[in-house]
Amino acid sequence: MKILITGGAGFIGSHTADALLGLGHEIRILDTLNPPVHADRRFPEHLQDRGIELVDGDVRDREAWEKTLTGVDAVYHLGAYQDYLTDFSTFFTTNTASTALMYEVLMARGQKLSRVVVASSQAVYGEGAYRRPACPDSGELRPGPRSPERLDRGLWELSCPSCGTDLEPLWTTEDTVRPHNSYALSKYGEESVALMLGERYGIPTVALRYSIVQGARQSFRNAYSDILRIFSQRVLNHRPPLCYEDGRQLRDYVSVHDVIRANVLVLDDDRAVGRAFNVGGARRLTTCEYADLVTRAAGADLEPRIAGSYRVGDTRHVLSGTEALGALGWRPVVDMSSVIAEYLTWATAQPGFADFSAEADSRMYALGTLRRVG
Ligand SMILES: NC(=O)c1ccc[n+]([C@@H]2O[C@H](COP(=O)([O-])OP(=O)(O)OC[C@H]3O[C@@H](n4cnc5c(N)ncnc54)[C@H](O)[C@@H]3O)[C@@H](O)[C@H]2O)c1
Repeated sequence: MKILITGGAGFIGSHTADALLGLGHEIRILDTLNPPVHADRRFPEHLQDRGIELVDGDVRDREAWEKTLTGVDAVYHLGAYQDYLTDFSTFFTTNTASTALMYEVLMARGQKLSRVVVASSQAVYGEGAYRRPACPDSGELRPGPRSPERLDRGLWELSCPSCGTDLEPLWTTEDTVRPHNSYALSKYGEESVALMLGERYGIPTVALRYSIVQGARQSFRNAYSDILRIFSQRVLNHRPPLCYEDGRQLRDYVSVHDVIRANVLVLDDDRAVGRAFNVGGARRLTTCEYADLVTRAAGADLEPRIAGSYRVGDTRHVLSGTEALGALGWRPVVDMSSVIAEYLTWATAQPGFADFSAEADSRMYALGTLRRVG
Protein backbone atom coordinates (compact mmCIF):
# COMPACT_ATOMS: atom_id res chain seq x y z
CA MET A 1 0.00 0.00 0.00
CA LYS A 2 1.00 3.62 -0.41
CA ILE A 3 0.49 5.32 2.94
CA LEU A 4 0.52 8.98 3.91
CA ILE A 5 1.63 9.82 7.44
CA THR A 6 0.99 13.38 8.53
CA GLY A 7 3.27 14.47 11.36
CA GLY A 8 5.55 11.65 10.23
CA ALA A 9 8.68 13.60 11.14
CA GLY A 10 7.61 13.49 14.79
CA PHE A 11 7.95 10.90 17.50
CA ILE A 12 5.07 8.46 16.87
CA GLY A 13 4.92 9.22 13.15
CA SER A 14 8.53 8.28 12.49
CA HIS A 15 8.20 4.99 14.41
CA THR A 16 5.02 4.31 12.43
CA ALA A 17 6.94 4.94 9.21
CA ASP A 18 9.65 2.47 10.31
CA ALA A 19 7.08 -0.24 11.02
CA LEU A 20 5.12 0.28 7.79
CA LEU A 21 8.29 0.36 5.69
CA GLY A 22 9.31 -2.90 7.35
CA LEU A 23 6.00 -4.39 6.20
CA GLY A 24 6.77 -3.40 2.63
CA HIS A 25 4.51 -0.34 2.34
CA GLU A 26 5.45 2.79 0.44
CA ILE A 27 5.53 5.85 2.68
CA ARG A 28 4.92 9.54 2.12
CA ILE A 29 5.23 11.99 4.99
CA LEU A 30 3.58 15.40 5.25
CA ASP A 31 5.05 17.47 8.04
CA THR A 32 5.40 21.19 8.59
CA LEU A 33 8.63 20.71 10.61
CA ASN A 34 7.41 23.20 13.16
CA PRO A 35 9.64 24.53 15.86
CA PRO A 36 10.00 23.91 18.76
CA VAL A 37 9.78 20.18 17.90
CA HIS A 38 12.01 20.67 14.85
CA ALA A 39 14.34 23.47 15.91
CA ASP A 40 16.31 23.21 12.64
CA ARG A 41 13.23 22.83 10.41
CA ARG A 42 14.70 19.76 8.71
CA PHE A 43 13.47 16.22 8.34
CA PRO A 44 15.34 14.13 10.92
CA GLU A 45 18.33 12.03 9.82
CA HIS A 46 16.57 8.75 10.60
CA LEU A 47 14.02 9.45 7.84
CA GLN A 48 16.55 10.39 5.16
CA ASP A 49 17.69 8.11 2.32
CA ARG A 50 15.18 5.37 3.06
CA GLY A 51 12.92 5.77 0.08
CA ILE A 52 10.36 7.79 2.07
CA GLU A 53 8.82 10.71 0.20
CA LEU A 54 9.23 13.71 2.49
CA VAL A 55 6.90 16.64 1.91
CA ASP A 56 7.28 19.87 3.86
CA GLY A 57 3.73 21.17 4.18
CA ASP A 58 0.92 22.07 6.53
CA VAL A 59 -2.19 19.99 7.25
CA ARG A 60 -4.15 23.24 7.45
CA ASP A 61 -3.42 23.86 3.77
CA ARG A 62 -5.76 22.41 1.15
CA GLU A 63 -3.04 22.29 -1.50
CA ALA A 64 -0.82 20.25 0.80
CA TRP A 65 -3.59 17.65 1.14
CA GLU A 66 -4.33 17.72 -2.58
CA LYS A 67 -0.69 17.04 -3.33
CA THR A 68 -0.05 14.39 -0.72
CA LEU A 69 -3.31 12.44 -0.95
CA THR A 70 -2.69 11.76 -4.61
CA GLY A 71 -2.18 8.04 -5.18
CA VAL A 72 -2.36 6.99 -1.52
CA ASP A 73 -4.40 4.06 -0.18
CA ALA A 74 -4.36 4.93 3.51
CA VAL A 75 -3.62 7.83 5.85
CA TYR A 76 -2.32 8.06 9.39
CA HIS A 77 -3.20 11.59 10.52
CA LEU A 78 -0.75 12.24 13.34
CA GLY A 79 0.28 15.84 12.64
CA ALA A 80 -0.95 17.92 15.55
CA TYR A 81 -0.56 20.96 17.70
CA GLN A 82 -0.16 19.74 21.24
CA ASP A 83 1.80 22.06 23.45
CA TYR A 84 0.16 23.41 26.57
CA LEU A 85 0.13 27.06 25.60
CA THR A 86 -2.47 29.78 25.18
CA ASP A 87 -2.86 30.05 21.39
CA PHE A 88 -6.16 28.20 21.74
CA SER A 89 -7.36 28.50 18.17
CA THR A 90 -4.27 26.72 16.82
CA PHE A 91 -5.39 23.49 18.49
CA PHE A 92 -8.63 23.55 16.55
CA THR A 93 -7.26 24.63 13.18
CA THR A 94 -4.40 22.13 13.28
CA ASN A 95 -6.12 19.17 14.90
CA THR A 96 -9.82 19.41 14.10
CA ALA A 97 -10.23 21.58 11.01
CA SER A 98 -7.35 19.83 9.23
CA THR A 99 -9.14 16.51 9.67
CA ALA A 100 -12.35 17.88 8.16
CA LEU A 101 -10.26 19.37 5.35
CA MET A 102 -8.74 15.98 4.54
CA TYR A 103 -12.22 14.41 4.08
CA GLU A 104 -13.31 17.50 2.13
CA VAL A 105 -10.47 16.99 -0.34
CA LEU A 106 -11.18 13.24 -0.57
CA MET A 107 -14.86 13.92 -1.25
CA ALA A 108 -14.18 16.63 -3.82
CA ARG A 109 -12.12 14.18 -5.85
CA GLY A 110 -14.21 11.10 -5.16
CA GLN A 111 -11.11 9.42 -3.75
CA LYS A 112 -11.68 6.33 -1.61
CA LEU A 113 -9.13 5.12 0.91
CA SER A 114 -8.91 1.71 2.50
CA ARG A 115 -8.13 3.23 5.89
CA VAL A 116 -7.77 6.48 7.81
CA VAL A 117 -6.28 6.28 11.30
CA VAL A 118 -6.44 9.43 13.39
CA ALA A 119 -4.42 10.03 16.52
CA SER A 120 -6.65 10.97 19.40
CA SER A 121 -5.69 11.13 23.02
CA GLN A 122 -6.44 9.99 26.52
CA ALA A 123 -6.93 13.72 27.12
CA VAL A 124 -10.53 13.35 25.87
CA TYR A 125 -11.38 11.78 29.24
CA GLY A 126 -10.44 14.81 31.30
CA GLU A 127 -10.38 13.42 34.81
CA GLY A 128 -11.78 10.08 33.63
CA ALA A 129 -13.93 7.75 35.71
CA TYR A 130 -13.93 7.46 39.51
CA ARG A 131 -15.73 5.57 42.24
CA ARG A 132 -16.52 6.77 45.74
CA PRO A 133 -15.20 4.17 48.15
CA ALA A 134 -16.24 5.93 51.36
CA CYS A 135 -19.61 7.37 50.42
CA PRO A 136 -23.06 5.87 51.02
CA ASP A 137 -23.94 7.11 47.51
CA SER A 138 -22.59 4.54 45.14
CA GLY A 139 -22.12 4.76 41.39
CA GLU A 140 -19.36 5.98 39.19
CA LEU A 141 -18.53 9.64 38.72
CA ARG A 142 -17.02 11.50 35.81
CA PRO A 143 -15.86 14.66 37.52
CA GLY A 144 -15.08 17.97 35.85
CA PRO A 145 -11.77 19.77 36.29
CA ARG A 146 -10.45 20.49 39.76
CA SER A 147 -11.10 23.97 41.08
CA PRO A 148 -8.21 26.47 41.17
CA GLU A 149 -9.11 27.27 44.83
CA ARG A 150 -8.52 23.66 45.90
CA LEU A 151 -5.34 23.39 43.87
CA ASP A 152 -3.96 26.63 45.36
CA ARG A 153 -4.43 25.04 48.77
CA GLY A 154 -2.67 21.85 47.74
CA LEU A 155 -5.87 19.78 47.87
CA TRP A 156 -5.04 17.48 44.99
CA GLU A 157 -7.52 14.62 45.14
CA LEU A 158 -10.97 14.86 43.63
CA SER A 159 -13.66 14.72 46.25
CA CYS A 160 -17.16 13.30 46.36
CA PRO A 161 -19.80 16.02 45.79
CA SER A 162 -22.11 14.29 48.32
CA CYS A 163 -19.83 13.59 51.28
CA GLY A 164 -16.50 15.26 50.46
CA THR A 165 -14.37 12.10 50.80
CA ASP A 166 -11.64 11.33 48.27
CA LEU A 167 -12.58 9.60 45.04
CA GLU A 168 -10.73 6.58 43.69
CA PRO A 169 -9.72 6.42 40.00
CA LEU A 170 -11.01 3.64 37.76
CA TRP A 171 -9.75 2.33 34.45
CA THR A 172 -11.63 4.57 32.04
CA THR A 173 -13.43 2.99 29.11
CA GLU A 174 -14.07 4.51 25.70
CA ASP A 175 -17.60 5.67 26.52
CA THR A 176 -16.45 8.29 29.05
CA VAL A 177 -15.68 11.59 27.38
CA ARG A 178 -15.16 14.85 29.23
CA PRO A 179 -12.44 16.94 27.59
CA HIS A 180 -11.48 20.03 29.56
CA ASN A 181 -8.76 21.87 27.72
CA SER A 182 -8.29 23.10 24.16
CA TYR A 183 -6.03 20.23 23.16
CA ALA A 184 -8.46 17.63 24.49
CA LEU A 185 -11.45 19.33 22.87
CA SER A 186 -9.62 19.61 19.57
CA LYS A 187 -8.70 15.90 19.70
CA TYR A 188 -12.24 14.89 20.50
CA GLY A 189 -13.36 17.12 17.61
CA GLU A 190 -10.78 15.43 15.39
CA GLU A 191 -11.89 11.89 16.13
CA SER A 192 -15.60 12.79 16.02
CA VAL A 193 -15.27 14.49 12.65
CA ALA A 194 -13.18 11.61 11.30
CA LEU A 195 -15.51 8.85 12.49
CA MET A 196 -18.62 10.70 11.36
CA LEU A 197 -17.32 11.61 7.87
CA GLY A 198 -15.63 8.23 7.49
CA GLU A 199 -18.90 6.44 8.10
CA ARG A 200 -21.00 8.80 6.04
CA TYR A 201 -18.78 8.68 2.97
CA GLY A 202 -17.56 5.10 3.17
CA ILE A 203 -13.95 5.79 4.16
CA PRO A 204 -13.07 3.21 6.83
CA THR A 205 -11.77 5.22 9.75
CA VAL A 206 -10.32 4.36 13.17
CA ALA A 207 -9.43 6.67 16.06
CA LEU A 208 -6.76 5.68 18.56
CA ARG A 209 -6.67 7.40 21.94
CA TYR A 210 -3.10 7.08 23.07
CA SER A 211 -2.16 7.36 26.71
CA ILE A 212 1.14 9.13 27.46
CA VAL A 213 3.54 7.61 24.95
CA GLN A 214 7.15 6.98 25.90
CA GLY A 215 10.22 6.18 23.82
CA ALA A 216 13.16 7.42 21.80
CA ARG A 217 12.70 10.37 19.39
CA GLN A 218 10.39 12.36 21.66
CA SER A 219 10.88 16.05 21.13
CA PHE A 220 13.21 17.74 23.61
CA ARG A 221 11.60 21.10 23.26
CA ASN A 222 7.90 21.05 24.07
CA ALA A 223 7.16 23.29 27.04
CA TYR A 224 4.63 20.77 28.24
CA SER A 225 4.56 16.96 28.12
CA ASP A 226 7.35 14.46 28.00
CA ILE A 227 7.89 13.49 31.59
CA LEU A 228 10.67 11.19 30.42
CA ARG A 229 12.65 13.99 28.85
CA ILE A 230 12.18 16.30 31.83
CA PHE A 231 13.16 13.70 34.44
CA SER A 232 16.07 12.37 32.35
CA GLN A 233 17.51 15.79 31.76
CA ARG A 234 17.42 16.60 35.45
CA VAL A 235 18.80 13.25 36.60
CA LEU A 236 21.63 13.30 34.05
CA ASN A 237 22.49 16.79 35.28
CA HIS A 238 22.69 15.41 38.87
CA ARG A 239 19.50 17.16 39.93
CA PRO A 240 16.59 15.34 41.56
CA PRO A 241 13.46 14.86 39.44
CA LEU A 242 10.78 17.36 40.43
CA CYS A 243 7.21 16.10 40.76
CA TYR A 244 4.30 18.51 40.48
CA GLU A 245 1.47 18.34 43.08
CA ASP A 246 2.37 15.58 45.56
CA GLY A 247 3.85 13.21 42.99
CA ARG A 248 1.06 10.67 43.48
CA GLN A 249 -0.80 11.32 40.23
CA LEU A 250 -1.53 8.05 38.47
CA ARG A 251 -0.87 7.45 34.80
CA ASP A 252 -0.69 4.45 32.46
CA TYR A 253 2.37 5.34 30.36
CA VAL A 254 2.61 3.28 27.19
CA SER A 255 5.64 2.36 25.11
CA VAL A 256 5.86 3.71 21.59
CA HIS A 257 6.49 0.14 20.42
CA ASP A 258 3.12 -0.97 21.79
CA VAL A 259 1.49 2.07 20.19
CA ILE A 260 2.99 1.19 16.83
CA ARG A 261 1.63 -2.37 17.09
CA ALA A 262 -1.81 -0.84 17.64
CA ASN A 263 -1.33 1.49 14.66
CA VAL A 264 -0.39 -1.45 12.44
CA LEU A 265 -3.18 -3.69 13.73
CA VAL A 266 -5.98 -1.28 12.84
CA LEU A 267 -4.69 -0.81 9.30
CA ASP A 268 -6.08 -4.20 8.25
CA ASP A 269 -8.49 -5.30 10.96
CA ASP A 270 -11.98 -4.32 9.79
CA ARG A 271 -13.41 -4.93 13.24
CA ALA A 272 -11.75 -1.64 14.25
CA VAL A 273 -13.53 0.49 11.64
CA GLY A 274 -15.79 3.26 12.91
CA ARG A 275 -14.52 3.01 16.48
CA ALA A 276 -12.27 4.83 18.94
CA PHE A 277 -9.90 2.71 21.06
CA ASN A 278 -7.77 3.34 24.09
CA VAL A 279 -4.10 2.52 23.62
CA GLY A 280 -2.70 2.51 27.15
CA GLY A 281 0.01 0.88 29.19
CA ALA A 282 -2.30 -1.18 31.47
CA ARG A 283 -0.02 -0.51 34.45
CA ARG A 284 -0.57 2.23 37.05
CA LEU A 285 2.43 4.33 38.02
CA THR A 286 2.57 7.46 40.15
CA THR A 287 4.70 10.34 38.96
CA CYS A 288 7.21 9.69 41.73
CA GLU A 289 7.36 5.96 40.89
CA TYR A 290 8.07 6.93 37.32
CA ALA A 291 10.80 9.32 38.52
CA ASP A 292 12.35 6.41 40.43
CA LEU A 293 12.40 4.26 37.28
CA VAL A 294 14.21 7.02 35.39
CA THR A 295 16.68 7.57 38.24
CA ARG A 296 17.48 3.86 38.43
CA ALA A 297 17.84 3.50 34.66
CA ALA A 298 20.33 6.39 34.70
CA GLY A 299 22.26 4.76 37.56
CA ALA A 300 21.81 7.89 39.70
CA ASP A 301 21.41 8.12 43.44
CA LEU A 302 18.73 10.78 43.71
CA GLU A 303 15.35 10.97 45.42
CA PRO A 304 12.46 12.69 43.60
CA ARG A 305 11.40 16.00 45.14
CA ILE A 306 8.03 17.69 45.30
CA ALA A 307 8.19 20.88 43.23
CA GLY A 308 5.67 22.90 45.28
CA SER A 309 3.81 23.76 42.10
CA TYR A 310 1.11 22.46 39.81
CA ARG A 311 0.04 22.77 36.22
CA VAL A 312 -3.36 24.33 35.65
CA GLY A 313 -5.63 21.94 33.77
CA ASP A 314 -3.64 18.81 34.62
CA THR A 315 -5.72 15.80 35.40
CA ARG A 316 -5.23 14.23 38.80
CA HIS A 317 -5.30 10.60 37.69
CA VAL A 318 -6.04 9.14 34.32
CA LEU A 319 -5.96 5.49 33.38
CA SER A 320 -7.23 4.08 30.09
CA GLY A 321 -8.77 0.61 30.10
CA THR A 322 -7.61 -1.41 27.10
CA GLU A 323 -10.20 -4.20 26.94
CA ALA A 324 -11.70 -3.01 23.64
CA LEU A 325 -8.43 -3.17 21.73
CA GLY A 326 -7.55 -6.27 23.73
CA ALA A 327 -10.56 -7.99 22.14
CA LEU A 328 -8.85 -7.47 18.77
CA GLY A 329 -5.73 -9.23 20.06
CA TRP A 330 -3.62 -6.23 21.16
CA ARG A 331 -2.10 -5.78 24.57
CA PRO A 332 0.82 -3.70 25.81
CA VAL A 333 3.85 -5.92 26.33
CA VAL A 334 6.83 -3.58 26.64
CA ASP A 335 8.22 -3.01 30.12
CA MET A 336 8.55 0.69 31.01
CA SER A 337 12.09 0.29 32.40
CA SER A 338 13.30 -0.99 29.04
CA VAL A 339 11.68 1.95 27.22
CA ILE A 340 13.37 4.36 29.62
CA ALA A 341 16.76 2.66 29.10
CA GLU A 342 16.27 2.82 25.32
CA TYR A 343 15.33 6.49 25.57
CA LEU A 344 18.40 7.35 27.66
CA THR A 345 20.73 5.61 25.20
CA TRP A 346 19.16 7.50 22.31
CA ALA A 347 18.78 10.89 24.04
CA THR A 348 22.32 11.08 25.38
CA ALA A 349 23.67 10.50 21.86
CA GLN A 350 21.71 13.49 20.48
CA PRO A 351 23.55 16.81 20.08
CA GLY A 352 20.45 18.80 21.10
CA PHE A 353 19.89 16.98 24.40
CA ALA A 354 20.25 19.55 27.15
CA ASP A 355 18.32 20.53 30.25
CA PHE A 356 15.54 22.83 29.01
CA SER A 357 13.35 22.32 32.07
CA ALA A 358 14.12 25.71 33.69
CA GLU A 359 13.42 27.49 30.39
CA ALA A 360 10.18 25.53 29.92
CA ASP A 361 9.10 26.17 33.52
CA SER A 362 9.69 29.94 33.29
CA ARG A 363 7.68 30.04 30.08
CA MET A 364 4.81 28.20 31.76
CA TYR A 365 5.02 30.36 34.93
CA ALA A 366 4.89 33.49 32.75
CA LEU A 367 1.80 32.16 30.98
CA GLY A 368 0.17 31.16 34.27
CA THR A 369 -0.04 27.49 33.26
CA LEU A 370 2.40 26.54 36.02
CA ARG A 371 1.60 27.91 39.48
CA ARG A 372 3.05 27.75 42.97
CA VAL A 373 0.98 26.22 45.74
CA GLY A 374 -0.45 28.66 48.30
N1 LIG B 1 3.09 11.56 22.47
C1 LIG B 1 2.03 11.31 23.21
O1 LIG B 1 2.14 10.98 24.40
C2 LIG B 1 0.66 11.39 22.60
C3 LIG B 1 -0.45 11.05 23.41
C4 LIG B 1 -1.72 11.14 22.88
C5 LIG B 1 -1.89 11.51 21.57
N2 LIG B 1 -0.81 11.84 20.81
C6 LIG B 1 -1.05 12.26 19.42
O2 LIG B 1 -0.21 11.50 18.57
C7 LIG B 1 0.17 12.28 17.45
C8 LIG B 1 1.68 12.27 17.30
O3 LIG B 1 2.26 12.83 18.47
P1 LIG B 1 3.82 12.84 18.72
O4 LIG B 1 4.04 12.58 20.14
O5 LIG B 1 4.50 12.03 17.70
O6 LIG B 1 4.14 14.38 18.49
P2 LIG B 1 5.37 15.10 17.76
O7 LIG B 1 5.31 16.55 18.15
O8 LIG B 1 6.63 14.37 17.95
O9 LIG B 1 4.96 14.96 16.23
C9 LIG B 1 3.94 15.73 15.67
C10 LIG B 1 4.42 16.14 14.31
O10 LIG B 1 3.38 16.92 13.71
C11 LIG B 1 3.99 17.95 12.97
N3 LIG B 1 3.03 19.04 12.79
C12 LIG B 1 2.62 19.93 13.72
N4 LIG B 1 1.78 20.82 13.15
C13 LIG B 1 1.64 20.43 11.85
C14 LIG B 1 0.93 20.96 10.75
N5 LIG B 1 0.17 22.06 10.89
N6 LIG B 1 1.04 20.34 9.56
C15 LIG B 1 1.83 19.23 9.40
N7 LIG B 1 2.54 18.70 10.41
C16 LIG B 1 2.44 19.30 11.62
C17 LIG B 1 5.17 18.37 13.83
O11 LIG B 1 6.16 19.07 13.04
C18 LIG B 1 5.67 17.02 14.32
O12 LIG B 1 6.66 16.49 13.49
C19 LIG B 1 -0.42 13.67 17.66
O13 LIG B 1 -1.62 13.74 16.94
C20 LIG B 1 -0.71 13.69 19.15
O14 LIG B 1 -1.77 14.57 19.45
C21 LIG B 1 0.45 11.80 21.29
